[in-house]
Amino acid sequence: MTSLTSERLLLREFKDDDWVSVHPYACDPEVVKYMTWGPNTSDDTRNFIRRAIAYQQEQPRRHFELAITLREEGQLIGGCGIRVSSHELREGNIGYCLNRNYWSKGYATEAARELLRFGFEALSLHRIYATCDPENYASRRVLEKIGMTLEGHLREILLMRGEWRDSLIYAILAREWKNSDTPLR
Ligand SMILES: CC(C)(COP(=O)(O)OP(=O)(O)OC[C@H]1O[C@@H](n2cnc3c(N)ncnc32)[C@H](O)[C@@H]1OP(=O)(O)O)[C@@H](O)C(=O)NCCC(=O)NCCS
Repeated sequence: MTSLTSERLLLREFKDDDWVSVHPYACDPEVVKYMTWGPNTSDDTRNFIRRAIAYQQEQPRRHFELAITLREEGQLIGGCGIRVSSHELREGNIGYCLNRNYWSKGYATEAARELLRFGFEALSLHRIYATCDPENYASRRVLEKIGMTLEGHLREILLMRGEWRDSLIYAILAREWKNSDTPLR
């Protein structure tokens, strides 16, 4: 079972009853505005939790969907994930999503940094990427803060709620991560 700790956060595996804390943000239109999923029905959220729990049994494990919780209070404030997109190429991708009450406190940056550490150290990945809507400025800033480079602008690659959307791709290589300040706690 994977659990990652940072200064203020514990990123841990999802449990059955987490859907109660996930649903308030997963059904919030403002939170899912730039996501390919949502706003969720309660069944959608329950299914997401079921899938996240099923991933815990994968051999070898490709998907790590983790709850973002506050270390002190134990409160679940969001979710994040790292998925191995190619074992052969040692490539993975990350994502994150927070309850609106917890935005702008540096939590997504803190969680994403831990995902990079886990991806490069524990999973021995060579490259980690993330995609993001060009208008999602908060997420773009998170990806910049964790040392990723903007590699491309993909035009109308997503059909989101009936609308074609562009996507930006950001990435960081293992050697860039090792040479950055990020590995130091
Ligand atoms: C994107 C998201 C995860 C960011 O989480 P967060 O915890 O608020 O992020 P952080 O506090 O670590 O950093 C946000 C940065 O973006 C900046 N920012 C926030 N809103 C911004 C805006 N509209 N324009 C420009 N910068 C913005 C903040 O100032 C901060 O940068 P700074 O530290 O240089 O001041 C959060 O807004 C969220 O959950 N959004 C909905 C889900 C989502 O879009 N997920 C990402 C999909 S790619």
